[in-house]
Amino acid sequence: MSKITPEQAIQSLPEPTHLSDINLWESIQEHVHNKLVHFPFALGLLACLFWLLSFKQPEFQNPAKLILVLSATTGLLAVITGENQKQVFQDSSLVEIMQWHERSGFFSLFLLLTGSVWQWFQSFRKFIWVYVGLMAFSLLFTGFLGGLLSHSHLEPVNESQNQQASF
Ligand code: HEM
Repeated sequence: MSKITPEQAIQSLPEPTHLSDINLWESIQEHVHNKLVHFPFALGLLACLFWLLSFKQPEFQNPAKLILVLSATTGLLAVITGENQKQVFQDSSLVEIMQWHERSGFFSLFLLLTGSVWQWFQSFRKFIWVYVGLMAFSLLFTGFLGGLLSHSHLEPVNESQNQQASF
C-alpha cells in the first residue's frame, strides 16, 4: 500500500508548461519528420479516395492528380527528414521496427512517385484498384510502424536483451 496521499502526489507533479516558456522557432526545427509525415500520409490516402470517386464523377480526376503530386513531394521530404532522425534508434531495442519502417517508407515513396507520373497516362485507369490497394496498405503500414517508433518505450539494445533472458 502506498503511503503517498493524493495531495502529495499532486504536489509532486511537474509544473504545467506555458506557451510563453516554449521557444517556438527551436520547437519547429525539432522532430521535423514527425511534423511532416501527416502530409504524405493524409494526402496519399485522399488521392486514392479521389481516384476511386473519379470512376463515377470524372471531376474528381484533376484534384486527385494534384493531391497525388503534393503527397509525393511531401513524401520525398518525409524520407529525407526520416533518414536524419533514424540515428537515435540505431542501437536501441526498436532497431528492427525502424528498419521495417524505413523499407516501407521507401516503398511508399516509390509508389507515390510512380503514381505521380503514371497517372497522366491512360493505362493508369486500368490499374487503379491495384495501385490504390498497394498505396493504402503501404502508407498505413508505414504510419503504424512510425507510430510504434515514436510512442514506444525506448531502451538500449543490451537492456532489452537482458530482460528477454530473464523471462
Ligand atoms: C513516406 C514515408 C514515411 C512516412 C509516411 C512516415 C511516417 C511516420 C510516422 C507517422 C511516424 C510517427 C510520427 C509521430 O507519431 O509523431 C514516423 C516516425 C519516424 N520515422 Fe517515418 N515515415 C516515412 C519514412 C521514413 C524513413 C525513410 C525513415 C528512415 C529511417 C523514417 C524514420 C522515422 C523515425 C526515426 C521516426 C521516429 C521519430 C521520433 O519520434 O523520434 N521514416 N514516421
